[in-house]
Parts: sequence; C-alpha cells; structure tokens
Amino acid sequence: MTAEDSLATRSVMRDYPPASAVRTLYSPEAIAARVKELGRQISADYAGGPLVLICVLKGSFMFAADLVRAISLPVRIEFLGVQSYGSGTESTGAVQIIQDLTQPIENEDVLVVEDIVDTGLTIAYILSLLRARNTKSLRICALLDKPSRRRVEAVADYVGFTVEDKFIVGYGLDHAQEYRNLPGLVRVARDPAVIP
Ligand code: IMP
Repeated sequence: MTAEDSLATRSVMRDYPPASAVRTLYSPEAIAARVKELGRQISADYAGGPLVLICVLKGSFMFAADLVRAISLPVRIEFLGVQSYGSGTESTGAVQIIQDLTQPIENEDVLVVEDIVDTGLTIAYILSLLRARNTKSLRICALLDKPSRRRVEAVADYVGFTVEDKFIVGYGLDHAQEYRNLPGLVRVARDPAVIP
C-alpha cells in the first residue's frame, strides 16, 4: 500500500458513518481507561491465575482483545460463537451455539467476556451450557449492561458501563453486522432502526 493509499483509506474511515449522524456515548479513550481498570481488578481478583477467558463472538472480539492485554496473569483464550439476534434490535429469545470451545474447561477459573447483557437470555443460556462442564469458577465480564431490559435474572460480575435502554453500536457491537469497526461506542442517527 502506498502512502497515498493509506491516506485515502483513513479519510474514507473518517467519513463513515458521516460524523453528523454519530453520537458518541463512550470515546475510544474512555473505553481504554475503563478496560484498564477492569483488567487491574480482574488481575487482582484472580491473583496468580491461570484464567480461561471466553470471548463470546462476534460482539466481544474487540473488547476481549483489549481486555486480555490489560490482564497481567497467564490467560488461555477460547472463543464461543453464539447467535441470538436476527437482523433486528429485539431478542428472539432463541440462542444458538455456532462455534464451541476447542479445549475442556473442567476445574478452570473461567471468565466469560460478553459485549452486552440486555434481556439476559444469551448469557443465561451460555452459563447453563458452561456450568455443565464443571469449571472451578465461572464469572461474567460484560462491556455494557442494560439492566432495565432484563427478562431473566443475569448478573455480570464485572461491567464496563451501565447504559439505558438505547441501541448502541461500535467497538465490536453491530446492527445487522454493520458498525462493528467503529472505534467508540455510539448511536447512529441516520438509521431509523438503530435510533428508534
Ligand atoms: P440478550 O440475550 O438480550 O441479553 O442480548 C445479548 C446480545 O444481543 C448481545 O450479545 C448483543 O449481541 C445483542 N445486543 C443487545 N443489545 C444490543 C445493543 O444495544 N447493541 C448491539 N447489540 C445488542
């Protein structure tokens, strides 16, 4: 890639989505500061480790990537692919595992990293699945928590930010697979489905 190409790419990224349509809730800097705090807290709580960190795909891929770098323990990373939404903003209630872990987690300290706990249906399903694998401990770290939307009991042990009932995208979170690459947590006004 030439220097001009890379400049062109950067200017395309800056215009997407149009700045006038984006309302930033948490800037990349605010997220980075909170992720550092979470990493410190987790490192202290699991002093010495080791820890198995389960990144729930796809929404938590960016959060998990930053979080592991803020954790000063030996960490094994696993990925769990789940699908809980179609292309809308409402949960269907049906959760499907589309990619399982590659290694057993029996007798391990396990931390599940989620993008957001909304109705709680997804995390409740994941916990029931993982409990059956006889871990030493099982906790949840969620970037975002929307407690006002709960339909089943679900409590995250670590929470980045508690948010109100608004649909949020960016930093890994999508709407119909779009917006995951935005560096901050935002609302996008140009899409009426995203801003009701
Ligand atoms: P729950 O099962 O209702 O708790 O939903 C969990 C999943 O729904 C999350 O892992 C997200 O993938 C998705 N989700 C819920 N709320 C939002 C949001 O505000 N923005 C993007 N995705 C969301």
